[in-house]
Amino acid sequence: MSEKLGSSQLARPGSSIIVAIDGPAGAGKSTIARHLAQRFGLLNIETGAMYRAYALKALRAAMPLDESSALERLADETTIRLEAGESGNRVLLDGEDVTGLLRDPLVTETASRVSVFPAIRAWMVKLQQQLGEGGGVVMEGRDIGTVVFPGAQVKIFLDAAPEVRGQRRFDQLGPTPDQLPEEVIREMRARDERDRNRVDSPLRAAADAVLLDTTHMTLEEVLQAAEALVTERIDAAPTPR
Ligand code: DC
Repeated sequence: MSEKLGSSQLARPGSSIIVAIDGPAGAGKSTIARHLAQRFGLLNIETGAMYRAYALKALRAAMPLDESSALERLADETTIRLEAGESGNRVLLDGEDVTGLLRDPLVTETASRVSVFPAIRAWMVKLQQQLGEGGGVVMEGRDIGTVVFPGAQVKIFLDAAPEVRGQRRFDQLGPTPDQLPEEVIREMRARDERDRNRVDSPLRAAADAVLLDTTHMTLEEVLQAAEALVTERIDAAPTPR
């Protein structure tokens, strides 16, 4: 697809390891990825934010969300870049910093819907492989260990019961949430369903991923388990892919 994939403005750290973190919404991927990135000096790449940025563009262009060829043409005119910012990465959509707009519920829903299209996935996967090709990254998403970097040295699949994930998401909405916990859980289940059942690269654990079910784990326990996995394998030499 488009050559206008954009390039990363992210600094490239020392270690060449690739850590893949996959799992459904609300499983704690972002928190764990951020922690591992800090602890081991890795670059943190949130692939969901890239799908969200494209979804925002599709919404702004009032694209029909069921027409693959129109969405593909829009992707051809789209550049998504990640830049290291003070408090995490900034996402640039055609040069505009859209980081603050990506958590909107409509964008969330639309990201899940546009991500079922193989052409959109192929474009995103290529960009993600470019961003991670030098290694030294922790990349989180749905298909990192299965499709984007099947040779990643560390693969973690995070999961938790839907009620627990929904409650965690609800708690993140702040003191005056504009949704009820039941609504958050319902939307999350719908998104899970779509992510797990799409034909192209559905959400699933890679055969060699370590499954961490965090339903009954504290954040501290999850962080420790993830850290131990990376520590164990960080010296494994071969460059992935
Ligand atoms: O991780 P997230 O909630 O920010 O992801 C938003 C949507 O993007 C999610 O519903 C599915 C899609 N996605 C995907 O299909 N593949 C990825 N690697 C990351 C996200």
